[in-house]
Amino acid sequence: MKTEFPCVLGIETSCDETAASVVRATRNADGPGAILSNIVLSQIEDHAPFGGVVPEIAARAHLEALDGIIESACVEAEMGFGDLDGIAVTSGPGLAGGLIVGTMTARAISAVHNLPLLTINHLEGHALTARLTDGVAFPYLLLLVSGGHTQILLVRGVGEYERWSTTIDDALGEAFDKTAKLLGLPYPGGPQVEARAREGNEKVIQFPRPLAGRQTLDMSFSGLKTAVRTEAQRDEPPAVDDICASFQAAVGDVLADRLQRAFDRFEIEFGFSASLIVAGGVAANNYLRGRLQTVCEQSGWRWIAPPHALCTDNAAMIAWAGVEHLRLGGAFEDAGIRPRWPLDRDTSVQYGSGKKGAKA
Ligand code: KG4
Ligand code: ZN
Repeated sequence: MKTEFPCVLGIETSCDETAASVVRATRNADGPGAILSNIVLSQIEDHAPFGGVVPEIAARAHLEALDGIIESACVEAEMGFGDLDGIAVTSGPGLAGGLIVGTMTARAISAVHNLPLLTINHLEGHALTARLTDGVAFPYLLLLVSGGHTQILLVRGVGEYERWSTTIDDALGEAFDKTAKLLGLPYPGGPQVEARAREGNEKVIQFPRPLAGRQTLDMSFSGLKTAVRTEAQRDEPPAVDDICASFQAAVGDVLADRLQRAFDRFEIEFGFSASLIVAGGVAANNYLRGRLQTVCEQSGWRWIAPPHALCTDNAAMIAWAGVEHLRLGGAFEDAGIRPRWPLDRDTSVQYGSGKKGAKA
């Protein structure tokens, strides 16, 4: 039976997680929403031997797993397709093969059960997660730091996003992964670098702080990676723990500097301080979380870090974005997949910025 508040099945297959989730709106227009199920199958072990996500392997794994994951999500939510108000699916940005698997499946369910198809931008899922979890009102700032993206976004409202900052080269998660590789640590490198950094001294190496002090809000991490390589290849290299700690300290300084500037810009535009939301795999890093929290406290900003499982790729955020659009009555045109799809309509697609080497 349909509820008073829209209930949406979300499907996410844009990278290396196969995910499905059922989410329902609640009374408050700004959220939070009710997550009735949230199933995520990570392919990390399939890709680990290759040191990165392999598109072909990802697409096949999505194809094998997706039907079962959707079924589990519906069973756990105690919902049949007929009880739903819509199907939301990630149609970009991401790897084309995975996006095709997700959108074809969603199209089939929507056609057979006569349900609206909501084609969602993956980044919009991340951007609206704080409303699903914490019922945050607009406007706010989002720092998205994952293996594929590094952005500061102004979230004005549903469908109203401004990208204030991006990386001009490597994504931050990618920089962690490449640093780990240079130091002989396994993939994915972020958690490894964090663990080794806990044992190290961040003052041993003074790594560069790329673009520090510049007017731009953009970030750059490839120079940092090169500096790590130089240290690692010395005849008598510093201890791996110290390299990791010094690398993380440099990243912390770069993020703190850019966010401070973003806060200033926001306060000039709106005349008040608001909330900073963090999302993406790198947001799991406790050292960086501590640094960002301090920046917020010092600047009078509210710090919101959704639970880790909702910061990394998942389908609850896609279902929730569907709920938000459905409630606004937005009409969706099924434009097919969009492997490169900037969230901000006014910014150009930046080829080669913040995308994993193996990604589309
Ligand atoms: O959002 P995510 O799970 O997936 C995609 O990017 O698709 O992010 C994965 C990235 C990887 O680069 C990984 O090394 C990084 O997040 N990561 C971390 C930590 N945990 C995951 N980076 C730094 N510290 C961590 N604890
Ligand atoms: Zn993501």
